[in-house]
Amino acid sequence: MASGMFRRKAIVPPSEMAAEHQLARTLSWPHLVALGVGAIVGTGILTLIGVGADRAGPAVIVSFAVAGLICACAALAYAEMATMMPVSGSAYTYSYAVLGEVFAWVVGWSLLAEYTLVVATVAVGWSGYATGFLAGLGLALPDALTHGPTMADGAVASWGVNVPALVIVAVVAGLLMLGTKESATLNAVLVVVKVIALAVFVGVALPYFDGARLEPFSPFGFAKHLSADGVERGVMAAAAIIFFAFYGFDAISTAAEETKNPGRDLAIGIVGSMAACVAIYMIVAVAAVGALSYTRFADSPEPLALILREIGQPGAARFLAGSAVIALPTVILAFLYGQSRIFFVMARDRLLPESLARVSARGTPVRITLFTAAIVMLFAGFLPIDAIAALANAGTLTAFAAVAVCMLVMRRRAPDMARPFRAPAAWVVGAGAIVGCAYLFISLPSTTQLWFLGWNVVGLLLYFLFVARRQAV
Ligand code: ALA
Repeated sequence: MASGMFRRKAIVPPSEMAAEHQLARTLSWPHLVALGVGAIVGTGILTLIGVGADRAGPAVIVSFAVAGLICACAALAYAEMATMMPVSGSAYTYSYAVLGEVFAWVVGWSLLAEYTLVVATVAVGWSGYATGFLAGLGLALPDALTHGPTMADGAVASWGVNVPALVIVAVVAGLLMLGTKESATLNAVLVVVKVIALAVFVGVALPYFDGARLEPFSPFGFAKHLSADGVERGVMAAAAIIFFAFYGFDAISTAAEETKNPGRDLAIGIVGSMAACVAIYMIVAVAAVGALSYTRFADSPEPLALILREIGQPGAARFLAGSAVIALPTVILAFLYGQSRIFFVMARDRLLPESLARVSARGTPVRITLFTAAIVMLFAGFLPIDAIAALANAGTLTAFAAVAVCMLVMRRRAPDMARPFRAPAAWVVGAGAIVGCAYLFISLPSTTQLWFLGWNVVGLLLYFLFVARRQAV
C-alpha cells in the first residue's frame, strides 16, 4: 500500500483525455480577472471587517496587510503551478503530481471543506443583506425563515431555516449548469457593481477621517491570546479571520482546463486580481476605522452600511447594501464553480465515485454541481456565519501551504521544466507562504483547529478504508 499511497500522478494533457471527460475551452484573461475579483471581494470586506476590528481594534489595518502579504506569496506560487500544470483541480492536482496520492487526498479533502463552507458563508452573508434590504422596502420576512437555529448557553434558543440563503444557492447552481461562458460573462458585469460600491464607500467615508479614532491603535497586541471575555484577540487573530477576504484567486486555477491560452491568461488572472484586491481592502479599512470608532461597527452584520448611516449618509448606505445584494452572488458563483471542478477531477482520478465525473452535452458537470449545491444548502440553511468562515480558512490555509511546497519541490526536482510564469524570488516567496499560512493557522480560534483536525481524521479513515484499497485493485 505504501507505494500506492505515495504514488504520483502523471499529468495528462487535457487534449489526450476521453472526450466525455473534456471541458470546453471558452475563457480568456478578462474572464479570469473578473472571476478572480468576483471571487475575492465579498463577505470578507463587507462583513468580516467588523469581526476583524473586534479582534484587533484599529490595527485591523495591519491585519489586512499581513493577510494580504501572505496571500500574495501564495498567489505567486499558484500562478507558477497553475501555468506549469494547466489542468483542473488546483492545489489538489499539484499535490497529486508533486507530493503523492495521500497528500493529494488531504489537500482535496480540505478543499472540499473550504469551497463548501465559503459558498455557505457567503450565502448566509447575502441573506443578511437581502433580508435587511427587503425589510427597508416593507417586505419583512418572518424571522424564523431568515436564519438557522440559534444557540444560547449550549442549548437551541430558537429554531429556523435560512430560506434566502437556500434560494440564492439554487439560483447560482442553475446558472452554472447552463454553461460556463454565460455565467462568467454575467459575473464580469456584477463585479463592476461590487467595485463601484466599495469606491462609493471610500469616497463618502474618507472625508470623515479623524486620526483620533485610531488611538489606541493596537489595544489587543499582536499575537493571539484569550481576552477576559473568552474571545481570542490580537492582530494575528484578526488576520486569521480577515484572511477570508483575500482568497478566491485560487478559484481561477480551477478553470485552467477551460482557458484558451493558460500560460498567459492564468498568470495575469491570478496575480492581477490579487494585487487589485489588496489595494482596495487597505483603502476601505483605513476609511472605515477613520470614519467611525471601531467599537461601534465591530458587532454589526453590515458594518460598512452602518458606518455610512452613522456619518449621516443613508442614501450611500442603501446603495452599498443594494449593491451587495446584487453582486455577492458572484462570490457564490466562483466558489460553486471551483467546488464542482475539484469534485470532478477527484472523481476522474477515482478518488471519488467515477460516475460523478460525466459532463453533459454542454460541457458542464451537471451531477456534481447538483450534488455540491445540495450539500452547501444544508450548511447555508442551518449554520451561523462566524464558525463556518473560520473553518473555511483552515481548509484554505492547508491548500495554500501545499501549493507553495509543491512549487519549491518542483524547483529542486525539475529546475529546467518549462514554466510559462516564474514566481520571483521563489524561495523567499515559497517560505513566506508556508510560514505565513502556518502562523495564520495557529492564530485561528482553537475550536476551529480541532474541528478541522477532526474533518481530516475522518477523511484519512475514508482514504485508508475505501479509496487506497480501490486504487490498488
Ligand atoms: N474572499 C471571499 C469573500 O470575502 C471569499 O467573500
